[in-house]
Amino acid sequence: MIPSAPPVRASLTNRLSVCLSGYRAMGKERTKADRKAETHSALVGAARRLFMEHGYAATPTEEIISGADASRGALYHHFRDKEELFRVVYEEVDREVVRKIVAAARGKEDAWDRLVVGCRTYLAASLEPAVQQVVLLDGPSVLGWETWREIEDAHCMGLMEGVLVKLADEGKLDAPIEPLLHLLFGALSEGALLVARTNDPEAALAEVEATVVRLLEGLKKEQPRQVSTRLTTCEFLSPCANRRSVRDRREETKLSGNPKTLEPEMTVSVAVVYDSGSRGHPVLGGRTRVLAEAVARGAEAVDGTVVRLVPVADREDHWVTLDEADAIVLGCPTYMGSGSAELKAFMEETLRPRFLEQRWKDKLAAGFTNSAGMSGDKLLSLKQLAGFAAQHGMIWVTLGQLPGWQTSLGSAEDENRLASFLGLMAQSNADQGPDLVPPHSDRATAERFGRRIGEAAHRWARGRTSATVASS
Ligand SMILES: Cc1cc2nc3c(=O)[nH]c(=O)nc-3n(C[C@H](O)[C@H](O)[C@H](O)COP(=O)(O)O)c2cc1C
Repeated sequence: MIPSAPPVRASLTNRLSVCLSGYRAMGKERTKADRKAETHSALVGAARRLFMEHGYAATPTEEIISGADASRGALYHHFRDKEELFRVVYEEVDREVVRKIVAAARGKEDAWDRLVVGCRTYLAASLEPAVQQVVLLDGPSVLGWETWREIEDAHCMGLMEGVLVKLADEGKLDAPIEPLLHLLFGALSEGALLVARTNDPEAALAEVEATVVRLLEGLKKEQPRQVSTRLTTCEFLSPCANRRSVRDRREETKLSGNPKTLEPEMTVSVAVVYDSGSRGHPVLGGRTRVLAEAVARGAEAVDGTVVRLVPVADREDHWVTLDEADAIVLGCPTYMGSGSAELKAFMEETLRPRFLEQRWKDKLAAGFTNSAGMSGDKLLSLKQLAGFAAQHGMIWVTLGQLPGWQTSLGSAEDENRLASFLGLMAQSNADQGPDLVPPHSDRATAERFGRRIGEAAHRWARGRTSATVASS
């Protein structure tokens, strides 16, 4: 093994100034950005090939560098170390498996069929060399259990959880969800490992598949219809269906009276990243959180929508959630005429790798803010959030509500009482806490806004699916 040099990392400030100067000298810097992206993908491509062929431990950093025709400096500019590069490769390969599962189960109306086809597709993926070496053999040990589980929770395990909850909702499952999820995922992982390590993978796969199907049959509460074992290409869940925890899903079950406005088999995820109470009176803080929760409730009311609330202070644990989300909603209090510093810090941290890779491009985005003044310069905060979304190439969803409280018959009870358009504005009296403010009208506006975002995410995901099908 060739020892690797200590990481040479450009400071965030330097990288940021490179990016910003790029906006001033568009043509020139665009080329620079292109070259950066090319180097990044060459490094990932070379690493993927080498990790797959030789395994993580037997791949020296030098070989990755020469395989990508890059410099050592470039490697450490893009990645903290070899392990971070491995994580990128791992997520890429694992996401491909998720896409295959989603494609295989697409359009299957029966949740049992989706579960069976999902499990079979997962197992079949274990025949692929990249899945065998990177995901099954090296993944857990190189990434460590916590990280590995975090990724799987967002990928395959999350998909499985979604379909199990659906079966439980329909009264078709004869086992509690949580232990079943872990046991089934364990069985599939071990089954896939068995296939990956045997001398006759095809034969092992057939045996493991048949055994898994029999196991699943035993879990049915009723047998209203035969489980189909025919594999077809159809729609299942978006990969983003996965961020619901078991607890979240149980909560969701309680909301089963919600109107079903959209196709039930399409699941999308909405992440609400928010700051609240990072400054000001600690006892009164949390008023913006109330709005975040109302937006989440609204989005959740759209059938097939998984919502994750992400307090911005916890962002380190949620990057995968955000990367996988179909829509990201940003919210913060307005402090000194702009979005709060905590949310701004989050925005700046998305520079690398998300902005540079345009990883969030074409996701939906929306924003809300809250402050003490009726105006209080809230529009400046919304512009800041919309500008941030634009930098990421995201699609901005406006509030989409007529203005309230602007005639002699209007009042502060009106929804959209602050007559906002770009996003949601709410107002909270400075001397009251989240039990009282923002008032009901603002909360209702937020809930309606969340619903609009959820519906937009479904439309967008459906359109994306049709576009993919049309181009394939
Ligand atoms: C440092 C600071 C700056 C503020 N600046 C503004 C402002 O520019 N405009 C405004 O209307 N309210 C301003 N406020 C009031 C907050 O926006 C308001 O209290 C809000 O409800 C706080 O939400 P939170 O409870 O989620 O922290 C400011 C408050 C603080 C502590």
